[in-house]
Amino acid sequence: MTNVAIVGYGYWGPNLLRNYLEVPGVSVAWVCDRRPEALEKVRRRYPAQAVSGSYDEVLADPAVDAVVIATPISTHFDLAAAALRAGKHVFVEKPMTSSTADAEELVRLAGETGLTLMVGHTFVFSPPVRKLGELIHDGSLGDIHFITSSRVNLGLHQKDVSVVWDLATHDLSILYYWLGESASSVYVTGRGCIVPEIPDVAFVNLRFPSGVVANVDIAWLSPVKLRRTVVVGSRRMALYDDTESVEKVKIFDHGVDYKEPESFGEFHLSYRTGDIVAPRLDTVEPLFAEASHFIECVTTGRRPITDGRAGLQVVASLEAAERSLRDHGGVQTIAATHGPGV
Ligand SMILES: NC(=O)c1ccc[n+]([C@@H]2O[C@H](COP(=O)([O-])OP(=O)(O)OC[C@H]3O[C@@H](n4cnc5c(N)ncnc54)[C@H](O)[C@@H]3O)[C@@H](O)[C@H]2O)c1
Repeated sequence: MTNVAIVGYGYWGPNLLRNYLEVPGVSVAWVCDRRPEALEKVRRRYPAQAVSGSYDEVLADPAVDAVVIATPISTHFDLAAAALRAGKHVFVEKPMTSSTADAEELVRLAGETGLTLMVGHTFVFSPPVRKLGELIHDGSLGDIHFITSSRVNLGLHQKDVSVVWDLATHDLSILYYWLGESASSVYVTGRGCIVPEIPDVAFVNLRFPSGVVANVDIAWLSPVKLRRTVVVGSRRMALYDDTESVEKVKIFDHGVDYKEPESFGEFHLSYRTGDIVAPRLDTVEPLFAEASHFIECVTTGRRPITDGRAGLQVVASLEAAERSLRDHGGVQTIAATHGPGV
């Protein structure tokens, strides 16, 4: 049995608890939240569940092997660092921390203690993202030329962070997983349309060491909800639309072939529009796959797919993106791109 404690029972914590309760070999030793109303909600739904208002009490329990942190971003570093220092494995929600320096420190602590550090980049565990990842990694799409993505809807304005920290985390974690590398530079334009000091629309432009370019449009203001990504490769192209109920991924055998000029300046382009295929997708719930993966890593010592370094790469990119946004679109180099991809 792996004993876990769920810390933070606000909007997202209940989803984590529901899934951890289902993972074989897991016992939820504690649900911890400092708001008594949150603990009352747990008691009503799960009368036998042990709850605590004190994080110190949870960390002091020698039976707890791992903590699952779903508290606000500003608290992630302190809670995760304390858990690692107390000898507990850590799963922490996205984004891993609110600064690159804190993310680096968590990665260092996890390395020093030999404990598992995993970040909740949930989309990396979703069947359409997995399938497209498989097709990118096995070369079915050829060399990736570029990726363009829209994540917009009439969303809830956050009070403490811009739309970049709220929404771009998802796209960055997906892109880094697909490409196996993180962006080396970023520039962002955007504005705060409703609350001037909190940008609610941003156009994020990324460049990768391999030459791939990507853009991610994010907004809390939009007449419709779009969750749409186009991946253009040298052999095939793909459309991933997360708002579709079926056929979330479509692969297009489309492309343009370039023929070397026979005489000076006369190159030829031939356009190809072939079959469109919607691959079969698994039906697993992403959060269940994520929770199962964390427990597998804790018990086997395997490195999580979304490990601390993946969390660090995303945080460093968000920090650089936010700097560019405040700097009216100036190009920013992204730190922490060294080392292997995610
Ligand atoms: N993976 C995803 O798709 C996804 C989706 C939504 C939210 N999230 C992430 O989940 C995290 C939580 O978001 P939320 O919307 O649930 O926030 P929330 O504010 O609704 O809930 C946070 C809870 O943490 C509790 N808390 C704060 N500090 C605490 C402490 N020191 N000890 C114990 N409890 C404490 C609060 O009382 C609150 O109940 C964030 O990091 C967010 O980015 C992830």
